[in-house]
Amino acid sequence: MLNVTNINVYYGNIHALHDMTFHVDDGEIVSLIGANGAGKSTTLKTISGLLRSHTGDIEFDGHSISRTEPDIIVRQGLTHVPEGRRIFLSMTVEENLDMGAFTIKEGKKKALDEVFDRFPRLAERRNQIAGTLSGGEQQMLAMGRALMIRPKMMMLDEPSMGLAPILVSQIMDIVVELNKAGTTILLVEQNARMALRISHRSYVIESGRIVLSDTSENLLNNEQVKKAYLGG
Ligand SMILES: Nc1ncnc2c1ncn2[C@@H]1O[C@H](COP(=O)(O)OP(=O)(O)OP(=O)(O)O)[C@@H](O)[C@H]1O
Ligand SMILES: [Mg+2]
Repeated sequence: MLNVTNINVYYGNIHALHDMTFHVDDGEIVSLIGANGAGKSTTLKTISGLLRSHTGDIEFDGHSISRTEPDIIVRQGLTHVPEGRRIFLSMTVEENLDMGAFTIKEGKKKALDEVFDRFPRLAERRNQIAGTLSGGEQQMLAMGRALMIRPKMMMLDEPSMGLAPILVSQIMDIVVELNKAGTTILLVEQNARMALRISHRSYVIESGRIVLSDTSENLLNNEQVKKAYLGG
């Protein structure tokens, strides 16, 4: 579904991503694990077209998207739930979801109903101003907004950030459900244990380079990973 081949990304003269190559198959949950500043968000931003690689290629669903505008990438079925959620705080829940549907003309109502079915909490609060939602509800809204176009693939940047443990597991359960319903997932997490538990495969990123890649099961038992990311 997604093939990232040899990308190099710079912020001015800071070389943030080095020769990164990885892939996500149709139907998988793949996670990217790494410390603060490793380059996880940069990777997602590059895939979604917000940053550009100087080299290589990014292919989604059989088409190169490395020169495609971000809104067209969304139209092709790849959505990005950014770090920090970036919902419209002064708009209502329903207005936020409506913004997520900018690429669709028909079936908006149906998409909205599907999102409300998946997140009953959002349905109850459809007219509430998004800025007054709790952290977990805001995360649900950000995910719901990305689901409005019924994406083939969703990229989630630290969905567990700032959430209480019980909400973290709820959000992770939702990610698994979405995947079972057919959405391919690329998950970025600092909560490595959680990410490894729910993903099929993972890549470990250090200083903008992929240093390890394996099934999540193997990585959970990898001494190096245990020491660096799972607290021993
Ligand atoms: N706009 C920017 N300008 C300059 N450097 C940047 C910019 N954004 C990120 N960087 C640098 O690029 C590197 C990778 O950052 P990135 O945000 O991708 O890390 P991350 O793995 O997502 O970290 P975190 O877990 O803290 O979110 C860091 O060294 C960061 O300081
Ligand atoms: Mg980040």
